[in-house]
Amino acid sequence: MANSWMQTPAGFELVASGTKAQIVDFFACAFNPSMLARFLHTVDSLLILGSFCVMAIGAWYLLKHKHVDHGKQFIKTGLTVGIVTVALMLPLAHYQAVVVAEQQPAKLAAMEGHWEDGPVALSLFGWVDDISGETTGLSIPGAASFLGSGSFETVYPGLNTLKNSLTDFDGYNGVKASDYKGGIPPVNATFQAYHLMICLYAGLILWLFIAAATVRASKKGKVNKALLYLLIIGPIVPFLAIQSGWMVAEVGRQPWVVYNLLLTADAVSPVVSALEINITILLFIVFYTILFIAWLRVVLKMIRTGPILEDVTVVAATLDTDLLSDLTSAPTSDTPAATPPAPDPQGGE
Ligand code: HEM
Repeated sequence: MANSWMQTPAGFELVASGTKAQIVDFFACAFNPSMLARFLHTVDSLLILGSFCVMAIGAWYLLKHKHVDHGKQFIKTGLTVGIVTVALMLPLAHYQAVVVAEQQPAKLAAMEGHWEDGPVALSLFGWVDDISGETTGLSIPGAASFLGSGSFETVYPGLNTLKNSLTDFDGYNGVKASDYKGGIPPVNATFQAYHLMICLYAGLILWLFIAAATVRASKKGKVNKALLYLLIIGPIVPFLAIQSGWMVAEVGRQPWVVYNLLLTADAVSPVVSALEINITILLFIVFYTILFIAWLRVVLKMIRTGPILEDVTVVAATLDTDLLSDLTSAPTSDTPAATPPAPDPQGGE
């Protein structure tokens, strides 16, 4: 929500001579124009990553010949969730792109290296020269306009127009429009991150096929080791897609930290020195590295131990309580046998 507000601020007014944003409408602020699209796209991408991790763990069990039945089940379940969430990604990603087209035209133009006003081409791959303002590569004319608006003809402003539209940069303290290229983001970085994310979407589909082939092969009892290794490294694909998505979102909104409201340069506090910032970043790196190592150790231990606990729970849930208490009081090799019950003097039960 907070990140979305910084991308598409709403429900606030500027107070203290324009130096503070104060919430005047909580719901407009929380449910700002890009919040829902961003939330759905991000949650779906995390579900995809989760399903790929489950498949990777299943593949590792098959490779190690441990918990083989669970391993097969993991791959099947991961595959099912993966198919649903990867399919869902298409309408959700489309919705996100539509919101960007409506709310952040400079970001849309940077995503496709779109310099002149007109319908936006959908690049399959390419390279952008930020200095000369040229994009070279292979593209489908008007296709990005189609995705954003449903028509190949829809005209969107180009970067050359956008960078001339924000002349009031000169009104900022010590900021010149030319220093900020009039308010457009680094174009090639945004372009490449966006296209990498889309390429990786194709990678997700490829990995789903690999998982399906593994399920098929495991039914016949003959799984190729190469398929298992590919599934084990599979989570890298959605992980990289997520990182490139964040690059699109954050590099693409530059030079603003709050879109069209607060420049990143102005967001730097004058009372915190560069040294203090560097030390803080260093401490963050150290702290999060320790946390990451601790987390990794716990997770790897859980994976190595396997789904034993789940087995006990499932068995316990299917037994009736009397039988369960009989079982738990039954002698084991570690506990002495209980004294047999005395015969009923009435001869009844
Ligand atoms: C069909 C392919 C895809 C399209 C068209 C697409 C579209 C977009 C767009 C337009 C943005 C920028 C949003 C913004 O700045 O407001 C974005 C961001 C993002 N994308 Fe994608 N995406 C696709 C695939 C993926 C995949 C496969 C993943 C991960 C599994 C992913 C994860 C993300 C994440 C985490 C963000 C940043 C979150 C945000 O701020 O919105 N995307 N995507």
